[in-house]
Amino acid sequence: MKGLFITFEGPDGSGKTTVATAVCERLKEKGYEVIHTREPGGIAISEDIRKIILDPKNTSMDPKTEALLYAASRRQHLVEKVFPAIKEGKIVICERFLDSSLAYQGYGRKLGFDEVLSINMFAIDNTYPDLTIYLDVDEQVGLDRLADRSFKDRLDQESIEFHHLVSEGYREVLRRFKDRISIVDASQDKESVIQDSLDLIIKKIDD
Ligand code: TMP
Repeated sequence: MKGLFITFEGPDGSGKTTVATAVCERLKEKGYEVIHTREPGGIAISEDIRKIILDPKNTSMDPKTEALLYAASRRQHLVEKVFPAIKEGKIVICERFLDSSLAYQGYGRKLGFDEVLSINMFAIDNTYPDLTIYLDVDEQVGLDRLADRSFKDRLDQESIEFHHLVSEGYREVLRRFKDRISIVDASQDKESVIQDSLDLIIKKIDD
């Protein structure tokens, strides 16, 4: 059996880690082989790249450098972790992927949606997720949760204007990739968000 590549997307503070963690546990309880991973990161080289990108002291990082580092980290993570797991028939649940770059670098950094898509095409060899779950949360709720974080990385520290552009970027992502992306209302209680996400994944597995 070929595995599945499933990604969670959404703005900072949308609850991706909490929901992905719970969903992975429940899939494992049902007997599925599941790998829970994240971008940027998930393996040693990509976690090192993550540290460089998110280090608050790297204030001079150029937006194109940032976009290329995310793509580089993505490439290595795919090759070392995602591709082998899918080949072994596992379900890979990944927090963030290509769509984050389209929203954050394409819109947030104003590099352009198609420009960022094109550098990523070189990195991903046309690998799109089988399913992307977008955790839809009111922009202000996300920003409030972000404000409560004790440590803020370089991206968390960006302006409200930046996060607003990211939301706009995600709306464009949802328009362009509507067949691949399912939206879950993340303003519901936690259990409903988890259950809705799980239902979508089970439906994909049964397809
Ligand atoms: P995280 O906090 O969700 O782990 O993600 C780290 C930050 O990196 C988050 O602010 C979103 C940002 N990001 C991008 O800007 N572009 C990308 O391609 C990815 C994967 C993340």
